[in-house]
Amino acid sequence: MSILVTGGAGFIGSHTALLLLEAGYEVVVVDNFSNSKPEVISRMESLAGQKIPLYEVDLRDEIGLSTVFENHQIEAVIHFAGLKAVGESVSNPLYYYENNIGGTITLCQVMEKYNVHKMVFSSSATVYGKPDQVPVAENVPLRSTNPYGRTKLMIEEILRDVYISNPDWSIALLRYFNPLGAHESGKIGEDPNGIPNNLMPYITQVAIGKRDELLVYGGDYETPDGTGIRDYIHVTDLAMGHLKALQRVKNVTGVEAYNLGTGTGYSVLDVVREFEKVTGVKIPYQIVERRPGDIAECYANPNKAERELGWKADKTLADMCRDAWKWQKVNPEGYSESLQKKFDSSIKN
Ligand code: NAD
Ligand code: UD1
Repeated sequence: MSILVTGGAGFIGSHTALLLLEAGYEVVVVDNFSNSKPEVISRMESLAGQKIPLYEVDLRDEIGLSTVFENHQIEAVIHFAGLKAVGESVSNPLYYYENNIGGTITLCQVMEKYNVHKMVFSSSATVYGKPDQVPVAENVPLRSTNPYGRTKLMIEEILRDVYISNPDWSIALLRYFNPLGAHESGKIGEDPNGIPNNLMPYITQVAIGKRDELLVYGGDYETPDGTGIRDYIHVTDLAMGHLKALQRVKNVTGVEAYNLGTGTGYSVLDVVREFEKVTGVKIPYQIVERRPGDIAECYANPNKAERELGWKADKTLADMCRDAWKWQKVNPEGYSESLQKKFDSSIKN
């Protein structure tokens, strides 16, 4: 029996697939490489010491997806595949609705056809919009402020309806807070296209000299130092949350949402200071206007995941800074082909 990982070539999917392999699961990856590169699969294979069955298939391609279920006995699906850039979702909403929602619907149809009813889904803390209070628990009213967030909200609703239609389904909706860091080997990590939107990839690109300074979006929030507060979580801790959720969907039917966060909020300046402390590299920054759509603070109440999944994040902000920096230093151009040779020789050494 295999676990199908959709979007398994992406940032969180690659770390999770690797952890699944290390835990002894058989893994099949489906990805259309719309936001990732095939190179990541070679690196995962070299870290795992085994071949990973890979299908370059778009989730909306029902025939292509059915082939995967024909060729492998799929026990459960961890569903990461989706588009995630908030700004792009505002300028191109139909692309987001079609890809994220359309892809999920086709996936569920194919799963139903092959009698596979266990799913772990990548939702997001974005479904809390601007929370009325922090830490935020799973049972507060949900809302979203942009098309990307609405795809997550709608998919959560669709999956609840799917369960109502057939109570054999067992689905975990994992609401991630802000994933950071990289695999401790420095061989897989986050590889954003163009100018990074998110804080940590921007900081590491300043640290390596690709960008001059960090622009801190807003210094006048009602937070202790005036900058925005978020719940940063190490990608390896997040990956482990999927293994725990998988155990749960294997044993219990129903639909449950879980926050995957640490429960601790850090400000932008806390992150900058920690990064400087851990790496010894100075990060020049300038405080500028708030970024439209940003909120002052958001961090998780992660108690439900601890209680029901037996999961708790245990890596620190220092670990996240250290591993993100290692990944950036070893891979200044991310997974770009030109560094393939350098990487091959680093594996041999
Ligand atoms: P990512 O872009 O690195 O990975 C997503 C992968 O899905 C990519 O490899 C992409 O090529 C693939 N993909 C997209 N659409 C596809 C399709 N139609 N068919 C097949 N493959 C497709 O993103 P990530 O950071 O690893 O995020 C994974 C999931 O977690 C996403 O659903 C994202 O919305 C969600 N999430 C991410 C964050 C974050 O900060 N990274 C936070 C909350 C939620
Ligand atoms: C963003 C997305 C959210 C997604 C999350 C994790 C928006 C509105 N939201 O959230 O949907 O789930 O990423 O991928 O884009 N910051 C700077 N300078 C920078 C970059 C960020 O000061 O160059 C600040 C932000 O203002 C914020 C914090 O750093 O206070 C974190 O930002 P970011 O990494 O983009 O995550 P979110 O805004 O939480």
